[in-house]
Amino acid sequence: MQTKVSCTLNGEDVSADVDSRTLLVDMIREQLSLTGTHVGCDTSQCGACVVHVNGRSVKSCSMLALQAEGAEIITIEGVDSNGDLHPMQAAFREHHGLQCGFCTPGMIMSALDLVQQNPDPDDKEIREWLEGNLCRCTGYQNIVQAVKAGAKSMRAGGKEAE
Ligand code: FES
Ligand code: FES
Repeated sequence: MQTKVSCTLNGEDVSADVDSRTLLVDMIREQLSLTGTHVGCDTSQCGACVVHVNGRSVKSCSMLALQAEGAEIITIEGVDSNGDLHPMQAAFREHHGLQCGFCTPGMIMSALDLVQQNPDPDDKEIREWLEGNLCRCTGYQNIVQAVKAGAKSMRAGGKEAE
């Protein structure tokens, strides 16, 4: 049996018919066709699937679509402003915080939640926060530098985390 789920996705009202076992990430990618949120594991370890649900970062592979009823969901597709990269996205590009880019949407969505709570995180805080996000390519040094730079430019621009 399928159940209708209604929520907002990047500011737009959306709905989808889902099974009781459908994961939020699958609803976002397969039914709502936003494929910037990635699936990199089946053990809830990699963080490639991180989105924001009601303002907090969540691994969307660890949440049922049905639990998103009435929620406000933001994905990587929802963080730019009219086509201009979000300062955190720009910082990842500038500081070579990615190679293949597979982990990047999840890294950025996690980083935005961190900066929301701690606008000036130090290296240790960034590393601890990103413990649940795995990157197979770059090593983490550039990612940490990118998050620091993104946080700095968000402070300078007074930019909200999303
Ligand atoms: S796909 Fe969600 S943690 Fe890996
Ligand atoms: S940039 Fe390739 S997995 Fe992180």
